[in-house]
Amino acid sequence: MSDAHAPLVEASATRTVPDAPLNPVIEAVDLNIYYGSFHAVYDVNLAYGKNEITAMIGPSGCGKSTVLRCLNRMNDLVASARVEGTVTYHGINIYDPKVDPIEVRRHIGMVFQKPNPFPKSIYDNVAYGPKVTGMKLESSLDEHVEWCLRKAALWDEVKDKLKESAFSLSGGQQQRLCIARAIATKPDVILMDEPCSALDPIATAAVEDLMVELRNDYTIIIVTHNMQQAARVSDRTAFFTARPDETTGNRTGLLVEFDKTTTIFSNPSDQRTEDYISGRFG
Ligand SMILES: Nc1ncnc2c1ncn2[C@@H]1O[C@H](COP(=O)(O)OP(=O)(O)OP(=O)(O)O)[C@@H](O)[C@H]1O
Ligand SMILES: [Mg+2]
Repeated sequence: MSDAHAPLVEASATRTVPDAPLNPVIEAVDLNIYYGSFHAVYDVNLAYGKNEITAMIGPSGCGKSTVLRCLNRMNDLVASARVEGTVTYHGINIYDPKVDPIEVRRHIGMVFQKPNPFPKSIYDNVAYGPKVTGMKLESSLDEHVEWCLRKAALWDEVKDKLKESAFSLSGGQQQRLCIARAIATKPDVILMDEPCSALDPIATAAVEDLMVELRNDYTIIIVTHNMQQAARVSDRTAFFTARPDETTGNRTGLLVEFDKTTTIFSNPSDQRTEDYISGRFG
């Protein structure tokens, strides 16, 4: 660690949470993430509990998406990105050279900020993953597609136009289609990066209801700028912030506090969390 980052040591309050998830599916340990020489995320330690929704909140540029993308090796696709530390999934370090990142992404799916359906039919968007991965299905492909679309609360709206282009759907419908696509390969964990930021309040409510429903079967990790959303849907919340590097002035992201969502929003232990959730900062 360079001296330039020394002040961050004090600031990084990765404190022990008395009731941290007992059954973490994913754990980030001493996670440092760089883009080239830029230290984007400093020393994050976080455990994501099974069948829980964990929200990651904090001001723009504090590294939420960077951390999220590290949890399924999506940052591998960014040439300059480099990860130090470990991310374990059910105890296996996903950065071990023996681990296949494509396999990681099959278990840990992702839904992006902007709905990004494939230029294919509604049906094929959902069927594509199971087909290309040669997934063994317990039911027919048609039944599986229906199951996914029902889970994503979209079936009734699309059942009569499955062969139409995904682009014919509204933004909110496209996002639910992307969720249906994400669950089609039966992942264990779903990462969501501001999944509702392009949606109106009605579509947002539908996606939030969906997240709560999906929690029964999946572990969900969501990045959101919407604090009401974090408070409404998540079980635990991680608050990140960014501090300028004394030498370069670049802002390095760090985890300030991680706790039960009710605690973060009612009785946070760190002043920076208090300031952020009360709107005094960020
Ligand atoms: N591909 C990249 N190459 C270089 N730097 C990057 C890249 N992606 C992100 N960064 C930088 O890393 C830092 C963290 O970015 P990140 O996108 O993770 O923040 P964020 O918390 O998700 O912000 P927002 O809330 O605006 O989405 C920022 O300074 C950003 O400029
Ligand atoms: Mg982001």
